[in-house]
Amino acid sequence: MSPSCGDNFCYRTYYFSESLIITLKETSNLVCDGTTGMCTWEASHVLAEWCCKEAHRFQDKNVLELGAGLGLLGLAVVQSCKPSSYTFTDLHPSVLNTLTENVQINLNKVPHDKQSAPNKDIWVDEITMKYNNTDAQIRRLDWESDSFDDQLDVILAADVVYDTEVIRQLVKTLMGTLSKQPGIAVYIASTVRNPDTYSYFKELLASKRVVTQSETHHHHQASPSQPQLSVNILHLTL
Ligand SMILES: C[S@@+](CC[C@H](N)C(=O)[O-])C[C@H]1O[C@@H](n2cnc3c(N)ncnc32)[C@H](O)[C@@H]1O
Repeated sequence: MSPSCGDNFCYRTYYFSESLIITLKETSNLVCDGTTGMCTWEASHVLAEWCCKEAHRFQDKNVLELGAGLGLLGLAVVQSCKPSSYTFTDLHPSVLNTLTENVQINLNKVPHDKQSAPNKDIWVDEITMKYNNTDAQIRRLDWESDSFDDQLDVILAADVVYDTEVIRQLVKTLMGTLSKQPGIAVYIASTVRNPDTYSYFKELLASKRVVTQSETHHHHQASPSQPQLSVNILHLTL
């Protein structure tokens, strides 16, 4: 059984540029409350930096994020890339409620000590808010059972390729959406911890005739005391 997140939260600030500074409520636990979604993973930082440089790919587009965790990637894209809509999705109620707090802190500028604490075990409904011209939404989406049928241009995901069962569910959701809307561009950032697991993901995609448009390799080091990690960004289309 994984530990409880309990009161083990902190507020961490991510500096991208003078105009993009994001503060997140998060834990330093890699797994707690039965999920990997209560801390921020390096791949989301790398993909956020890449998206900010490639903002034209997201401007005026409808973007879906799978496994959004605590929101670093989406908050960077919403504030820097001017998408028409951005839908943050995840599975676990603790993740969705903390993600909601983070979206409110950064997009609505609600001070974190002025927020009402949600019941972390229940996710009641989808949440919608406006940021400049972007419709930002937070929704529950389970890759095992749910489909996403809204009109989309782009799908983003960071650090969702870590376990073969999770990969099978993720690919099912991707294929369900791509087969209905084949023009969608998909960008997935992965820290390659186990090359066999990563190869399994790419082979499964190839078996479904998903095309890899490009694969770029990045290095990320959160601080001098942390190891340098390799993060790959895949650009996929059907
Ligand atoms: C390693 S975390 C990455 C979180 C975030 N993208 C980041 O990089 O910081 C993986 C995320 O995938 C979500 N996830 C795992 N299985 C899922 C499923 N079946 N449906 C939806 N989300 C899922 C988890 O809740 C978690 O937030």
